[in-house]
Amino acid sequence: MKAVRLHAFGGPDILRYEDAPRPQAKPGEVLVRVKAAGLNPPDWYLRDGYRALPPEWRPEPVFPLILGTDISGVVAAVGADVDSFAIGDEVYAMVRFPEAVMTGSNGYAEYVSVPAGELALKPAGIDHIRAAGAPMSLLTAWQFLIDLGHDAPNPFQSFAHQPVPLTGKTVVINGAGGGVGHIAVQLARWQGARVIAVASAKNAALMRDFGVDQFIDYRTRAVEDMVRDADLVFDAVGGADMERLLHVLKPGGALFLVNPLGFAGYAEAERLGVHVSTTQVRSSGAQLREAGRLLDEGLVQVGIDSVFPLHEAAQAHARAAKGSIQGKIVLAVA
Ligand SMILES: NC(=O)c1ccc[n+]([C@@H]2O[C@H](COP(=O)([O-])OP(=O)(O)OC[C@H]3O[C@@H](n4cnc5c(N)ncnc54)[C@H](OP(=O)(O)O)[C@@H]3O)[C@@H](O)[C@H]2O)c1
Repeated sequence: MKAVRLHAFGGPDILRYEDAPRPQAKPGEVLVRVKAAGLNPPDWYLRDGYRALPPEWRPEPVFPLILGTDISGVVAAVGADVDSFAIGDEVYAMVRFPEAVMTGSNGYAEYVSVPAGELALKPAGIDHIRAAGAPMSLLTAWQFLIDLGHDAPNPFQSFAHQPVPLTGKTVVINGAGGGVGHIAVQLARWQGARVIAVASAKNAALMRDFGVDQFIDYRTRAVEDMVRDADLVFDAVGGADMERLLHVLKPGGALFLVNPLGFAGYAEAERLGVHVSTTQVRSSGAQLREAGRLLDEGLVQVGIDSVFPLHEAAQAHARAAKGSIQGKIVLAVA
């Protein structure tokens, strides 16, 4: 089969479109003929060898490796012990996350083998491109905001993350135009929250379409100067200065951090009576089935930033490196 493989860590140009062995469905697995593969930040973190992490945490190279957690496609074969899917089913999945976070989940390929429990039927109302854009962003927003859905240890904190009630609450989504952010906006609206979206100006029209109550262009106004007494801030950006978001919240409010690395506000949060929490997304076919109903009914839409053919994965990564992603970048697999 054709696949995009890495033989060394590096920039986008290191991605190589070439022949690779076709995987087989082992017991409990399903072989999927991939129609589209969605891009996510862990793809470029691993491509780069997780250089932002301390050296002792970085992956040991296992080249050649294949990036790509998010796929949509058609079942080509089922392994022994699998009776939940049949050849020809249209399916989507986030593959082996976080198990394969350091080795690659093999999605940038014509075929990928997926544990049956991580698959769900693709929502019939959307195409493979949008379905491939959904899994990691949808599961992240779902597990943070709606239902954690598992009891695996949390690698970032000593307690389990717990969603908070959203109905009738004021919820600020920072990074509202990005992969996770644009889904989070729609889930919060679906739950009946009053939503304040923070993103760059180009996202204003999209946010109006999603029905947000207030839009803040972070490049001209700071959210902490404009909002007080919010119930929840969901930060879908990370990076420098997350602590300022504490001042947007009321005592008893919550700050959820999708990327908590570098957050230095725990003492300040305690002083302000703000609950800070994070979690790491986990593969779940059951949750993709449940949340997929919202995609099917159009209650949650997957925005598409751009689509590249599989052999242009390097260009897709170069697009991602420019930042300001609106929705999802997706690879179309012929
Ligand atoms: N905890 C987990 O398991 C988990 C799971 C998935 C993702 N993540 C992390 O979550 C983060 C977001 O992932 P993603 O897939 O949504 O990435 P993404 O698609 O690149 O979205 C990030 C968004 O943030 C916006 N942005 C950048 N700087 C901003 C700022 N200062 N203020 C407000 N918005 C800003 C960007 O566009 P504009 O500047 O145009 O607004 C972009 O739309 C990443 O750090 C990722 O590693 C964590």
